[in-house]
This record gives sequence, structure tokens and C-alpha cells, in this order.
Amino acid sequence: MSVTHRLPTLQNVQKVLKNFDAQKGLIYLNGQVLVERDDTDVELPFRQESNFFYVTGVAEPDFHVTIDIETKHVRLFAPNVNPELVMWMGMPDSLEELKAKYDVDEVVYVDQLAQHLLSASIVYTLPITKTDKLDSEIKLCSSEESKKLHTAFAEARAIKSDWEIEIIRKANEISSNAHVKLMKASQEGASETQLHALFLYECHRYGALFQAYYPIVGVGKNAATLHYNKNNAPFKQASDIVLVDAGCEVSCYASDITRCFPVGGKFTPEARTIYTIVLDMQKACLNACKAGVAWEEIHNIATKVACDGLLECGILVGDKEEILANHVVAAFFPHGIGHMLGLDVHDLGGYPEGTERIDAPGIRNLRMRRNLQSGFVVTVEPGVYFCDFLIDPVLNDPKTGKYINKDVLNKYKPVGGVRIEDNIVITQDGYHNLTTVPKEIEEIEALMATK
Ligand code: GLY
Ligand code: MN
Ligand code: MN
Repeated sequence: MSVTHRLPTLQNVQKVLKNFDAQKGLIYLNGQVLVERDDTDVELPFRQESNFFYVTGVAEPDFHVTIDIETKHVRLFAPNVNPELVMWMGMPDSLEELKAKYDVDEVVYVDQLAQHLLSASIVYTLPITKTDKLDSEIKLCSSEESKKLHTAFAEARAIKSDWEIEIIRKANEISSNAHVKLMKASQEGASETQLHALFLYECHRYGALFQAYYPIVGVGKNAATLHYNKNNAPFKQASDIVLVDAGCEVSCYASDITRCFPVGGKFTPEARTIYTIVLDMQKACLNACKAGVAWEEIHNIATKVACDGLLECGILVGDKEEILANHVVAAFFPHGIGHMLGLDVHDLGGYPEGTERIDAPGIRNLRMRRNLQSGFVVTVEPGVYFCDFLIDPVLNDPKTGKYINKDVLNKYKPVGGVRIEDNIVITQDGYHNLTTVPKEIEEIEALMATK
């Protein structure tokens, strides 16, 4: 959905300033420009740079902003009216209209920018801010200071305010309803392409014109490719599992939801077993989510529940502690349990300054390593996949191969892959789930039976 109401972004400016240790000078960000495809005048879809959106709410191209650190004055610079552009693109909003539309202190035209920046004692930019066209007399901050400003944005953006949560809830509502429509539309003879198209349609028609990321629609073994994006295979067998990882954006805020279901609406015994393991992983993780808990602990819970499930169905054999110590589960669950979600699908703030990744299979791909805080919005997305490229090296290494029963593994391989992903808000003593797509096997089968 485009921004239809004025977002209170001055609150976000206050949050950034609180996290930024400087007394005076200007913060300067340039918004995203309209990009044309290669050597043509065909415009690529426009998406505002997220930090710029965070402090302005502006989702249109070619704007700039400054924030006076001392006075907290936010000045928005609009592109000057260009008669050539007006002919093709229509008349832009006047300065008064822009001032009414956006929560900033002042709106002026961009021809005033250079002088304004020249007058500042120091100009702080983000590492991504484009400064090559600026007057060389402007006193720009060091790259160290630039990194500190980035950290200030990351910390501010990590804790979502109530209105941000409401936007992410709206994105979840539209995406959740779209996921349900896909379950109902699935049948033998349909295809990844058709479900992809239907997802876009269902989001578009409820006002969400943009996706937070390219949808992943994978049937059978395609589901084992984590960010599969060919989305072009036909549905040949009713028993195959389809994985749909898709989420729209509302006012630049993301949703990120994954559901898996059988093409024909009935889980095979093997699919049921793997799906239940993943659902158990997710339930155990969700139960443990609350402020103060270390995110890597949530990942470890998922790994342990996966280990229990894979032992119980016979894919894994041997001593649980040995299997965990040898990281065998990572061959089946190779990614992290989840990540921050906000203006970006993999949002800022996962690794605070000085935090290192844990260098071990699986957990090294965790996109966040810090204690949960009230107001974080995160995904919880366990999965179990049968990807030969990842499993074979573990299977062929005698040190780890002895923990895998090849015959049982081969029986389960046709399941392809299962991931279940919800978006939650962390609270002091638990979480609120923003994702409303059914995920119990009985619910999915019942829903798919009523096409
Ligand atoms: N859709 C990308 C992810 O789940 O992280
Ligand atoms: Mn996802
Ligand atoms: Mn995700």
C-alpha cells in the first residue's frame, strides 16, 4: 500500500538522535533516485531507501533530508519542478502539499541543499549516502563516524513503535489472506508460476503494490533451495509439497511468511512426519520467545527439537548429544531460526557492534545474535530440507555419516523441504503473532478440501 496517511516519523528522528552521540552539525541523507533500465528511458520500480523512509516517510524519488542535531529541525529537500518531467510525469506536489503530507519541520527545493550543507560545522552521512556530487568544501564526517550513525539508525529501527507494528500487522494480514488463497487454488496441473501470480494479485488487489522480496514458490525438491526463485515448475503430483515463502510490503514495511502444503491437499505419511517435526520446532521456539532471551538459544531449541524428530523417524541414528556435538542437524536445517523484520525483510540490528557470528554449521547463518527486547519484530522460521548438496558431504564423512540411516533418508527425500515462518512481536513475557495463516495439518487439509 502506498503511504495514505501521514506517518509520525519525527518520533523516529528523535530515536536516531538518542542513539547518536554528537552534539551539533547536520545529518544528511539522500533518498533513492529513479533508476532507468540500462541504456533506455524505462524506469525501474521505485523503492525508497529504508533509512530515508524511516526519518521522512517519503516514498517518492529524488528527495534529500537534513536533521540539525542541536535543534532537531528536519528539513526536506524536494526536487525542483522540471518542465520536461512535468510533461511526462504530471505536476508534482507543491511545497505546502508536501509539508502537509510528511512529518517534517520544513520543505524546500533541492537547489538550496548545497548552501545548507556548506554552512554546517560537520555533515554526518550514512555509509550508503552518495557524496561524490557534493561540493568538496563541505565538511563531511569520517567513515568511523558514518558507521556510528549507521549503528544509531540500526538501534532505533530495531525497536518498533506501536504504529510500525500496526503497519507490519497490516502487511501480515494481506499476505496471510493471500497464502490462504494459494492453498485453496493448489491442485495437480497448476504450477509454481500460477501460485506466484495469484500471490501478487491477492496482495495488489488489497493495496499492497510491492513485495518485501521476490516470492519463493517451490514444489518438491525445489523447496530444498532456500531462496529458490525460478517459480516455473508444473505441479505433476498431488502428493508433492509446495513451499511458498512470500510477503508483501505496506508503507515500506515487510511481511515474511512461509507455508507448505501438499499440491492436492492431503499430506502423505512422510510429508506429515517432516511437517510435524518443523511445526514442533516452531512451537518450541515460539514458547521460549520473550524479552531477555538470547536469539542463539532459540536457534539451539530448534536444532534440538529437529534432532529429536529426525531420531524418532529414523533418519538419524545414535546418541543425541554426539549428533548435536557433530552438527549433523545442520545438514537438514542449514539456516538460522529467523531475523529482524521491519523496513527491510532482513532488517538492521541483528549483530550489534562487536558481536561475532558463531562459527559452526547452521548457526553461522543466523542473521541475529543478541538478546530479544520488547518491541523487536522477528521471524521464527524453522525448516527441514532434503538437499543432496548439503547432506552428501555429511553422509560421506565417516565421522558424521554414521548418524544417518541412508535407507530411511531416501524414503523421506521426496518430501523436498518444509519451512514454517511467522512474524512475531516480542513482549516482556512472550510474543504476539502477527501471522494468521493456518499451520496445523488438520486446518490446512480442511481448508484445502473447501476450494
Ligand atoms: N524470505 C526470506 C527469508 O525468509 O528470510
Ligand atoms: Mn521468508
Ligand atoms: Mn525470513
